[in-house]
Amino acid sequence: MRFIAPIVIKETQCALSSPDHKRGGYPRQPAIDRTNSLCHRLRVMLFSLARPLIYLLDPERAHRLAITALRLGGTRKIPASDPRLQTSVAGITFPNPIGMAAGFDKDGEVPDALLGLGFGFVEAGSITPLPQAGNPKPRLFRLTEDRAVINRMGFNNSGSEAAAARFAARQGKSGVVGINIGANKDSADRVADYAIMARLMAPFATYLAVNVSSPNTPGLRALQDESALAALLNAVVAARDDACRASAKAPPVFLKVAPDLEPADIDAIARIAIEKRLGALIVSNTTISRPPLLSAHTSEAGGLSGAPLRDLAQQRLIDFRKATGGAIPLIGVGGIATANDAWARIRAGASLVQLYSAMVYEGPGLPRRIAKGLVQLMERDGFATIAEAVGTA
Ligand SMILES: Cc1cc2nc3c(=O)[nH]c(=O)nc-3n(C[C@H](O)[C@H](O)[C@H](O)COP(=O)(O)O)c2cc1C
Repeated sequence: MRFIAPIVIKETQCALSSPDHKRGGYPRQPAIDRTNSLCHRLRVMLFSLARPLIYLLDPERAHRLAITALRLGGTRKIPASDPRLQTSVAGITFPNPIGMAAGFDKDGEVPDALLGLGFGFVEAGSITPLPQAGNPKPRLFRLTEDRAVINRMGFNNSGSEAAAARFAARQGKSGVVGINIGANKDSADRVADYAIMARLMAPFATYLAVNVSSPNTPGLRALQDESALAALLNAVVAARDDACRASAKAPPVFLKVAPDLEPADIDAIARIAIEKRLGALIVSNTTISRPPLLSAHTSEAGGLSGAPLRDLAQQRLIDFRKATGGAIPLIGVGGIATANDAWARIRAGASLVQLYSAMVYEGPGLPRRIAKGLVQLMERDGFATIAEAVGTA
């Protein structure tokens, strides 16, 4: 079954045409489309039925299957979010604060189908200038007993040219689609790679996310060091501005950081984020640390995500809130699997949240479930808007 969005808001990112400069807005609908909702329930039921079989598959195959299912069977119609969940960050209007984190849709194949699941925004990528195969397989591990994932994918993606063609084909569609940019493993000049990506992707992105925090590209996280980071962000911002010179507005630049940072690193990154007027900090990527785990895959190399990352990511968010003094919006990511997790992150200082690993265990109904739960938690705690609740813990 395939549904095509009946309402198309004409909107390019750099060349903004909407009069109120509301970007990434969500099409006004009088009510949730019943057919769409029924199909969604059917998809959720199918996932529940198929879950035992999916878990028999190698995780990377299962992921490929999920992308194919979304491409062929996902709805393109953005479901209505409760208006109380709408929030604004860096000049972008998000219909709800729950985002699909980077890494699921590395090549920007299914952003609209993911929005159709009820995500308020989708971050495609990481995308690098040239296609690259990534690390040898196996490189993705389900830690079922721990509700966790370990990955050492190594920025496998089909490169900027293929991604740009896909994004060009969806131009004019509504929905917040950020593009997460990275550098090629073998690049002689990684800063130049980010600049190339910023220039190429700015016309298509609602926001650009600079990923310097993947543990799976050797040396990449060194770009989080103070002087390297300042130079990198200067190059990215200059390239973005260059690409959007003739436009009303350029996509804001977000920075995605690792959870494995020392207090001095956090202070330095916070200072630079404020100085460079970043749109948001995304806290955080996967961890190279290993809290006690039950699964046999514990000792696999790579980044750990999912439930065991939750407390560390929450603490890093609190650290960044303190270090930035609330001057830069924060996006909380890491181990979020329930409305309570998302709410705790928001109360701790996140203006938005993202998730990935929980989708592996909870399936396609998760974003809508969290959205519904968030509204109940807002009511319980007496908040009329998400923005009001940010940082009130
Ligand atoms: C298989 C996999 C691939 C990922 N690839 C990327 C990536 O390409 N770029 C990136 O910024 N983060 C990537 N991430 C990190 C996620 O975006 C997220 O920050 C992390 O998984 C923590 O969130 P979670 O606990 O909800 O999964 C990846 C995560 C996983 C599990």
